[in-house]
Amino acid sequence: MQHIRATVAKEFELVNQLIIDQLHSNVDMVENVGHYIVDAGGKRLRPLLVLLTAAALGRCEDRHITLAAIIEFIHTATLLHDDVVDLSTLRRGRPTANAEFGNAPSVLVGDFLYTRAFQLMVQLADMDILDHMAQTTNTIAEGEVLQLTRAGDPNTTEAQYLDVITRKTAILFAAACYGAATLSGQDEQTRNALREFGLNLGMAFQMIDDALDYDGDPATMGKNVGDDLMEGKVTLPLIHTLREGNAAEQATVREAIISKSTDNIEQIITAIKRCGALEYTRAQARRYRDLALENLSVLPESEARDALISVTELAINREH
Ligand code: IPE
Ligand code: IPE
Ligand code: MG
Ligand code: MG
Repeated sequence: MQHIRATVAKEFELVNQLIIDQLHSNVDMVENVGHYIVDAGGKRLRPLLVLLTAAALGRCEDRHITLAAIIEFIHTATLLHDDVVDLSTLRRGRPTANAEFGNAPSVLVGDFLYTRAFQLMVQLADMDILDHMAQTTNTIAEGEVLQLTRAGDPNTTEAQYLDVITRKTAILFAAACYGAATLSGQDEQTRNALREFGLNLGMAFQMIDDALDYDGDPATMGKNVGDDLMEGKVTLPLIHTLREGNAAEQATVREAIISKSTDNIEQIITAIKRCGALEYTRAQARRYRDLALENLSVLPESEARDALISVTELAINREH
């Protein structure tokens, strides 16, 4: 990660500074909760995509710094809301904001971050970016609602799963790359190729996240294992186990999904592993990784493009 960031180290620092500046509010609780989650770190992967895409297209300008902060604010807002909905208690290695401050502050400060992102977007005064970001955030909200309505349904199909993760996750990665290319004044073909790159990378990223939810190390991930099961969230490892498991395994998984319970998590993890569901999930993620790498051929060779390739590999090999 250090090596990848080096290409845009100065710009990365500016993004972090802008994020801190823009957290400012006269309402103490906004700053307290905002700083609580922002200061905990996070990989800042999406802003990095903005900066690296810009650098690979020539130059990373002030407007790219603003877009990078906008995207991270939207991401952070979704995390605040997501942890309330998912009843999660651990994020970025510390208690979630909902665990620390309660649900109401998390939801409301999430709203602050969303709306601050739109204030920053108005500063960019680019109708194409505004249109794309408005659509993107709306689609993320739909994705989270769609996921909520699917929770607890063991008949969820792989196609339905792909639809959810496209909306809730991949679309923001796509917006980071598309937006950066738009600000760089690229033609439609280049913008769309980079949008596809982000989309494919985002799909791979979420699939790995869903695998880690069953076999990750909480200390490394900074998140708990089993959060998805607790919410009855039907992700790819479970979909594959429901397809390939024996009768007893299928019954255990179905029952856990319907009752949204982690009571049998040990058995379920054993079943997931026995059926090769984690290998399957990781293989699917690698397919999207390969597509993403193909999309990058639209860029001329450069250090920044190499860094984008490394980010793509990291999305697959990551442990947090
Ligand atoms: C978490 O995203 C939400 C998902 C889309 C899986 P990240 O893994 O990028 O979270 P941080 O920002 O690094 O904490
Ligand atoms: C990603 O899904 C959530 C959003 C895109 C908001 P998850 O629910 O899997 O994310 P984590 O695991 O809580 O970070
Ligand atoms: Mg979650
Ligand atoms: Mg997850």
